[in-house]
Amino acid sequence: MKLLVINGPNLNMLGIREPEIYGTTNYIDLVELVNQSCREKDIEVTICQSNHEGEIVDYIQGSYKKMDAIIINPAAYTHTSIAILDALKAVALPTIEVHLSDIHTREAFRKHSYVSLAAMQTICGKGIDGYAEAINILHEHFEQKR
Ligand code: DQA
Repeated sequence: MKLLVINGPNLNMLGIREPEIYGTTNYIDLVELVNQSCREKDIEVTICQSNHEGEIVDYIQGSYKKMDAIIINPAAYTHTSIAILDALKAVALPTIEVHLSDIHTREAFRKHSYVSLAAMQTICGKGIDGYAEAINILHEHFEQKR
């Protein structure tokens, strides 16, 4: 299985940004956890991070016929980006949306996610462990299909 993990704006600032919300684990910890979880399951993973909406659209489009599944934390674009939603619908790969924080218990503007409309599942409020959970779900999904 080939997996693309996409992280949106400001996630590279993990460990520095709002530690009371996002904790003190940094972006390198997140990347290591994803790599480790994928290694255990023999998943070939590509991890990317961008602060630019168009670049995230390009990453999603680039996954067409190249990847089997996507995990995406679109960060602030979750709540604004129809372009990212449309790109996910275009490639139509099994997609899991992950958020470190619980977007439903924060400001009202975070409650709505465009990306959820294209995701088979949304995991939020579990910190970086949410990525490991998403990897497990996708792994199960493909095992069942075999
Ligand atoms: C986030 C939640 C978003 O509302 C926020 O804009 C982020 C991070 C999360 O992982 O909890 O940047 O996606």
